[in-house]
Amino acid sequence: MKIIVSADYIEMSRLAAAHLARLIRENPKIVLGLPTGSTPLGMYRNLVEMHKQSKLSFKGVTSFNLDEYIGLRPGHKNSYRYYMYENFFKHVDILEHNINIPDGNSEDLEQECIDYEKKISDAGGIDLMILGLGSNGHIGFNEPADHFPVATHVTELDESTIQANARFFDSIDQVPRLSITMGIGSIMRCRQILLLASGKAKARAIGAALEGPVTPKLPASILQFHPDVTVILDADAASQLTRLL
Ligand code: GLP
Repeated sequence: MKIIVSADYIEMSRLAAAHLARLIRENPKIVLGLPTGSTPLGMYRNLVEMHKQSKLSFKGVTSFNLDEYIGLRPGHKNSYRYYMYENFFKHVDILEHNINIPDGNSEDLEQECIDYEKKISDAGGIDLMILGLGSNGHIGFNEPADHFPVATHVTELDESTIQANARFFDSIDQVPRLSITMGIGSIMRCRQILLLASGKAKARAIGAALEGPVTPKLPASILQFHPDVTVILDADAASQLTRLL
């Protein structure tokens, strides 16, 4: 595991974009796993800027989003689909047919999960998965549990996640209770992982995930078992790491 501690959010975002850009240049047909949330926004802004300056093309790139809320109407401003188009896809040259996001409005959610896993494997698997981190240690919507989910599945949001994500909604009652997420197994099958975290609110989860025991009670801790993980933190998120600094 390679851990990079940057000074602040701006530098973390620049380093994350540079990491991704390097891999796209090495393999223009790269298959990416993409996250949402506040953390990767700066990385997406940097990538859009690189694209506008004609320094980076996404034409050959295939993407798979990590997760999506269940039950938000199509086009809802809090859906992850909306977030991805607004913050990234509509500003770059990625091809529409190479974009994959779980459909949280599918009439058959179980089938949607099976189909999503099949699409990932038909694409040859994910080369680089980029992850944010919940303050309870969740990745995607894999919440603290008594087991590690193997594949894409429907899951209930933790009460603490509902509260954390309420800031994007008019009221807490509007936060969906369910989501579709890639499983821990889907994440561990990705060839490389880039984990991003910024801010004091993530410090405890980062400390536990990188230095504590591997346990489904802190889902991100499983990344200790992955052979190719890069972690980019800002100083606040790194502030509870001891051994590795
Ligand atoms: C959400 C998403 C995660 C994300 C996490 C952290 O619940 N499902 O994929 O990593 O929250 O979000 P933020 O970056 O806004 O702190």
